[in-house]
Amino acid sequence: MWDYSDKVIDHYRNPRNVGKIDNADAIGEAGSLACGDSLKIYLKIKDGIVTDAKFQTFGCGSAVASSSILTEMIIGKSIEEVKKITNKDIADQLGGLPPEKMHCSVMGYEALEDALKNYDDYTDLDDIRNEEEANKQREKIVCTCFGITENVIWDAIKMNGLKTVEEVTNYTKAGGACGKCKGLIQDIIDTYYKKEEHEKNESTLTPAQKIIKINNVIEKQISPELMKDGGDITLVDIDGNKVMVKLRGKCSGCKNSHLTLKAFVEKTLKDTVDLNIEVVEVE
Ligand code: FES
Repeated sequence: MWDYSDKVIDHYRNPRNVGKIDNADAIGEAGSLACGDSLKIYLKIKDGIVTDAKFQTFGCGSAVASSSILTEMIIGKSIEEVKKITNKDIADQLGGLPPEKMHCSVMGYEALEDALKNYDDYTDLDDIRNEEEANKQREKIVCTCFGITENVIWDAIKMNGLKTVEEVTNYTKAGGACGKCKGLIQDIIDTYYKKEEHEKNESTLTPAQKIIKINNVIEKQISPELMKDGGDITLVDIDGNKVMVKLRGKCSGCKNSHLTLKAFVEKTLKDTVDLNIEVVEVE
């Protein structure tokens, strides 16, 4: 049995703001009856402030409690404040949710996001993310069993620091039925953390630090790998993102991944230092 906080039990037994708002200024939906959970949220907005919020939900006790507390959290808040609410905030307000029930808080967040997108004056969500094209790409369905898009998985990873497929399943349901999408989910997790690492490196490394890091990676990671198969690497020069090297022999890592020696070196430096690095082989 799952352990529920007193607040979850209270909101499940006495849900606040249940129902529908006629002439709502914004309506958002998330989940679907086919998936076993669904939520519709109605907002009344005046002068940029949420003056009323109601919900209708079909789902478990955690879904009811998440929806109920969400309405309490947003009434009286400005649109700007509401936009900052995450599924983690919803779960925190409830005093926590069991990991297997975190998807209920995600459903609340998604319904709210949908309502804000539909709000007439709400135009800047894409500006905030500044990734319109990437978002379009992430609209594609990853988990067909539950109709979960890449966008939803990406946001859940980002907001909750999810690291494993199991955690993504707990937060979004994706992967929780036939399991065919688990490989795709792992790819999304890998891509997210690679991107995060890249952004961290880009924002924090000075040119001098970058040179030191390239040297370290060559010495501690690349060279030992090449030496296993009698290969070798000599760093000749670094000019911005161009890394000039002399290469000799092969490496076991290259053979396993079918990469050329130069491609192996470039991939390792891109993964660990900077995605813009280009390796140039010199005589
Ligand atoms: S496709 Fe995701 S669980 Fe079936």
